Amino acid sequence: MNYFSRLIVLLVLVAPLSSTCSSNQIQDSLYQCLSTYSTTQLHNIFYTPNNPFFTPLLNSTALNLRCIAPDAAKPEVIYTPLNEIHIQNAVICAKMLGIHLRFRSGGHDYEGISYTSVMDPPYVVIDLSKLRGISVDVGNGSVWVEAGATIGELYYRVAEKSKTHGVPAGLCTSLGVGGHITGGAYGPMMRKYGLGADNALDVKIIDANGRLLDRKAMGEDVFWAIRGGGGGSFGVIVSWKLKLVPVPETVTVFNVGRTLEQGATKILYKWQQVADKLDEDLFIRVVIQTSKVPNTNQRTISTTYNALFLGKVNRLQEIMKESFPELGLKKEDCFEMSWLESVMFIAGYPRTVPTTVLLAGKPAFVNYFKAKSDFVKDPIPEKGLEEIWQRLLEEESPLTIWNPFGGMMSRIPESSIPFPHRNGTLFMIQYLTTWMNPEKDVVNKHVDWIRKLYNYMAQHVSMFPRQAYVNYRDLDLGMNDKSGDETSFIMASSWGTKYFKENFNRLVKIKTEFDPDNFFKHEQSIPVLPLKSKFQHSEL
Ligand SMILES: Cc1cc2nc3c(=O)[nH]c(=O)nc-3n(C[C@H](O)[C@H](O)[C@H](O)COP(=O)(O)OP(=O)(O)OC[C@H]3O[C@@H](n4cnc5c(N)ncnc54)[C@H](O)[C@@H]3O)c2cc1C
Ligand SMILES: *[C@@H]1O[C@H](CO)[C@@H](O)[C@H](O)[C@H]1NC(C)=O
Ligand SMILES: *[C@@H]1O[C@H](CO)[C@@H](O)[C@H](O)[C@H]1NC(C)=O
Ligand SMILES: *[C@@H]1O[C@H](CO)[C@@H](O)[C@H](O)[C@H]1NC(C)=O
Repeated sequence: MNYFSRLIVLLVLVAPLSSTCSSNQIQDSLYQCLSTYSTTQLHNIFYTPNNPFFTPLLNSTALNLRCIAPDAAKPEVIYTPLNEIHIQNAVICAKMLGIHLRFRSGGHDYEGISYTSVMDPPYVVIDLSKLRGISVDVGNGSVWVEAGATIGELYYRVAEKSKTHGVPAGLCTSLGVGGHITGGAYGPMMRKYGLGADNALDVKIIDANGRLLDRKAMGEDVFWAIRGGGGGSFGVIVSWKLKLVPVPETVTVFNVGRTLEQGATKILYKWQQVADKLDEDLFIRVVIQTSKVPNTNQRTISTTYNALFLGKVNRLQEIMKESFPELGLKKEDCFEMSWLESVMFIAGYPRTVPTTVLLAGKPAFVNYFKAKSDFVKDPIPEKGLEEIWQRLLEEESPLTIWNPFGGMMSRIPESSIPFPHRNGTLFMIQYLTTWMNPEKDVVNKHVDWIRKLYNYMAQHVSMFPRQAYVNYRDLDLGMNDKSGDETSFIMASSWGTKYFKENFNRLVKIKTEFDPDNFFKHEQSIPVLPLKSKFQHSEL
């Protein structure tokens, strides 16, 4: 049966649910709808909360424990498609029945909106973790990878086929391809090759009518929108075709730590001036935490310079001597290795762990966290750095990561894809605080701390708009509401311009054309133009 004849069958079989329907109604009607034409036994792919596998499945990739705490909304059903037809069926049934869907690939969303909802329960989660096929074509310089695969698996499969090819995407190896690439995907090769989304060649998505579309069928506007516009707004990404980029057989990495006592502030001030201008083969990020001063009860700030160099140690030494001698990098700090081993090193695995661990395809740790992001255009003065240190020292487990831009990132125009943070950006800051206690007071205390830090930082970072990275989703920046009306639309432009600058307007236009009924929606999905949608409804 093709999907049109399915639609007709279903229209006869099921009547739409009211928006106030009960859990059982959603579960039963969705089950009934899916079973009318599913050729697979549904019990392997359709999980309701009374199924003993439901909670382990919900928890399996929920990276932020804050979003599966007892008071967080849980799905009525988790559905785990085994192929694209299963996804098409789910979209068609959900649209017809008025069921709200969430989509999860790797589960790393910072606000957990791939598996919880503050805006619009009840809802059903489509978990794509069983779709993780990877097909590497070295001859063609490309790879097809399904949404549920992690980037660790992707890197492993590429390296298995070629020692001199890699994929430019994120540093954390448990990220899901489905959510990660569509939000941009920066990583240690971005200064040379740009983002994961900059290197996307083709895609397969399922639209709100259940149609499976590739780049050619969807057209260049939609293909533009999903390369950086963020997940869950336009369709379900089934797989990406990504470009392979050349990497040398031997690359070099280092991790060098400097505390306040070792002159961290002055060194970081210098890093801010050089990090975006260094040789494009060199990526040096700074991981900033608090640590104990040895043999005392005092805490200090520790800055760790975590680097990938696409070349050998001798050339790296020359570049460092020339451009950033203040760090005092020694040859003994550096390790030569394969690109895949560098992936492990940058992700923080000890060197004794074999690369096959990447095939586990699961997060190595979970905790409660809240995070935010900023973009810096002028170096923060030493006095400013000292004020930041004071604030970090007030918090139990603060973490901030400063990630250099420049190189290829500056040469790609702001409107090339929706990700607008390009020329003029020195580096991106990510702020994080983590904890392990679910109590409300504790949660509030940490969230307050990071909000205050963010307010303080306003003077040091991008303005008009204050930019933010959509893959570091932050619901403090604003949220859609259920109504989808004009007020909601105006609200959306506040976070929309932070994530996308001028590109937000084009995203809204494309969304309005491609998904006029706003089927794909969540707390920060791209909104539909309010007038246009009213006009279309009155036509019906
Ligand atoms: C520990 C950690 C490290 C990180 N490191 C980096 C990094 O180095 N570089 C970087 O760029 N980012 C990084 N991120 C951010 C990461 O890119 C985003 O969280 C990304 O959205 C994760 O994708 P996912 O599939 O794992 O997440 P999910 O939670 O599964 O999805 C994220 C969003 O995409 C939507 N979505 C998921 N699957 C699909 C699909 N198939 N089709 C359509 N929409 C979908 C979801 O609805 C949700 O809105 C990191 C995040 C964490 C938690
Ligand atoms: C799932 O996670 C929640 C929240 O951390 C926890 O309370 C619960 O015990 C977990 N359940 C399972 C089965 O893993
Ligand atoms: C490589 O991919 C392109 C674009 O998808 C295609 O046109 C071409 O035929 C492929 N070439 C080879 C050698 O497979
Ligand atoms: C980036 O911006 C600077 C300063 O505005 C300008 O001099 C430079 O030419 C720009 N670079 C590119 C590649 O556009």
